[in-house]
Amino acid sequence: MSEENSGEDLFDLEGQVAFVSGASRGLGEHFAEVLAAAGCDVVVTSRDKKSLQLVEDRIEGLGRRCQSVELDVTDHESIRKAVDEAIIGFGKIDIVVCNAGCNRRKPSVDVTWEDWDYVVDTNLKGSFFLAQETAKRSMLEAGHGRIIMIGSVTSVHGYAGLAPYGASRGGIRQLVMSLADDWGPAGITVNCLAPGWFKTQQNAMMYEDEGWVEYLSERIPLRRPGNMEDLDGALIFLASESSRYVTGQTLLVDGGISTGRLRAMPKEK
Ligand SMILES: NC(=O)c1ccc[n+]([C@@H]2O[C@H](COP(=O)([O-])OP(=O)(O)OC[C@H]3O[C@@H](n4cnc5c(N)ncnc54)[C@H](OP(=O)(O)O)[C@@H]3O)[C@@H](O)[C@H]2O)c1
Repeated sequence: MSEENSGEDLFDLEGQVAFVSGASRGLGEHFAEVLAAAGCDVVVTSRDKKSLQLVEDRIEGLGRRCQSVELDVTDHESIRKAVDEAIIGFGKIDIVVCNAGCNRRKPSVDVTWEDWDYVVDTNLKGSFFLAQETAKRSMLEAGHGRIIMIGSVTSVHGYAGLAPYGASRGGIRQLVMSLADDWGPAGITVNCLAPGWFKTQQNAMMYEDEGWVEYLSERIPLRRPGNMEDLDGALIFLASESSRYVTGQTLLVDGGISTGRLRAMPKEK
């Protein structure tokens, strides 16, 4: 082991400031708490500041500082204001998790112009401009930063009924490669954390389908949908020193569903 690494906790985030979009519920709320537990002070954001109170209380309960900030990622001015508030509050942003996102499930022939803008603007445009603002306001000058964008199995596979969503998540996979090339020389890493199936408000209607979990589990090599905690290791890895030589990558945390589950053996009799 080199001198440089001896005694270093590669996963420690003590003293870091993390900014999480879409932290009012679901994965974003969980990400904010996991980063706080690992040592970060956290800026939590959503379109409705009031909905952040519980997560703010829990993070402060861990002994970390937390600031709730209103943010609509489809509004450029709102992104500028939210990042500005975070910098005023904490002086810097070391880690940004571009998590805010949405979906509209429908057959491709029924997708409207407005559906497309709603989904793609939130998931792709919003993530890009949030990353750009944090880079401009803090990371480029600091000479370091961790940008984590959220992908999905639709970043690598096509699914009927999810055309705009899949386009936005495929776009994220491409975007992290471009930004990694752009900002790597400045010490910033940009990666995509791509969850498989995790039950949240966004996909709750799928779980109302009788037999859905069984159907899904049969297609997942690890035989179950994800629990939020299954994402913790990947999140901390991408946020911390442990991933210092990893950039432009998409890390699928999906129980293996993206390996493809086509039956290629004769059915057992
Ligand atoms: N759940 C899964 O299995 C799964 C799998 C792969 C990827 N993802 C992605 O992971 C992210 C989180 O998903 P989730 O399942 O936790 O969804 P969720 O429960 O619906 O939460 C979405 C979050 O995004 C915020 N948001 C939505 N539109 C926004 C906007 N225009 N500006 C700012 N914030 C906005 C919401 O906050 P407000 O409504 O309070 O503003 C909320 O906090 C999404 O990008 C989703 O596509 C989820």
